[in-house]
Amino acid sequence: MSPISTRRFIQTAATLVAGIVLAACSKQEAAPAPAAVAPAPVPVAAKVYVVGTDAAYAPFESQNEKGEIVGFDIDVVKAVAAKGGFEVKFVNTPWEGIFNALNQGDRDLLVSAVTITDERKQTMDFSAPYFDAQQLIAVKGDSKVTKFDDLKKLKVGVQTGTTGDEAITKLQGKDSANIKRFESTPLALKELEAGGVDAVVADNGVVIHYVNNNAGSKFKTVADASFTPEQYGLPVKKGNAELLAKLNKGLADIKADGTYDKIYAQYFGAPPAAAAGAATPAAPAAAASAPAASK
Ligand code: ARG
Repeated sequence: MSPISTRRFIQTAATLVAGIVLAACSKQEAAPAPAAVAPAPVPVAAKVYVVGTDAAYAPFESQNEKGEIVGFDIDVVKAVAAKGGFEVKFVNTPWEGIFNALNQGDRDLLVSAVTITDERKQTMDFSAPYFDAQQLIAVKGDSKVTKFDDLKKLKVGVQTGTTGDEAITKLQGKDSANIKRFESTPLALKELEAGGVDAVVADNGVVIHYVNNNAGSKFKTVADASFTPEQYGLPVKKGNAELLAKLNKGLADIKADGTYDKIYAQYFGAPPAAAAGAATPAAPAAAASAPAASK
């Protein structure tokens, strides 16, 4: 290197160092500037949305022997995500803290057989409805209960904070000592089996599934037309319009292309149209009352 080029080199180096020092200093005032230039990783991985679900609610969401979260709700959300080109990760989340987890941002959306209610709509935004449901009463096969009103003075088990809880609270009054609240619906049903409560009020799909899969419990179901018709939706944090739009588009797409019907048939047999009016069908209810009939 000639002396001149050495000098030039030193000058250039000094300028560079000064530039870096300046940049470092200005970082404080203009913090967002480097960040704005930064989005270098162009091939961004698909966004992974964290989905909260209380996986003790078969056939909608439960854990299989391998600990995987499976069910109708899970398949619906997976199909919606596949259509929309985003990824989802299901995280088992106890029902009691599930709405909080959403509002704190620990979960991006919920799928948990969540009934859309006016009260809940004040604190969360819901997708379009994706499933029709109604409360259903489970009692022992020899029970005299024939309608919801018969539960007025009886011990009734419900899952805390569910629409079943709301229904019985309305019937018995909020201070009633006869309402036994459980952290999950299966626990309430176990208590019915053990004789600790006289009835359980819960979503029809879950009650029917339990009765059909626990023949030994000798339960029967009692439907009552006075229960408000319910619809499940996918809650997102209030104001998360971007995700809500994706979910609604995905739901519309899987309904249009037959994917939804396929999933539905896999879990409930009859296509949704046939089952809709009957508020989950005569067949399983009849099967459920079989033990009583054969007594
Ligand atoms: N549909 C009822 C409600 O929204 C019960 C839902 C309970 N879901 C669950 N995965 N435990 O209140």
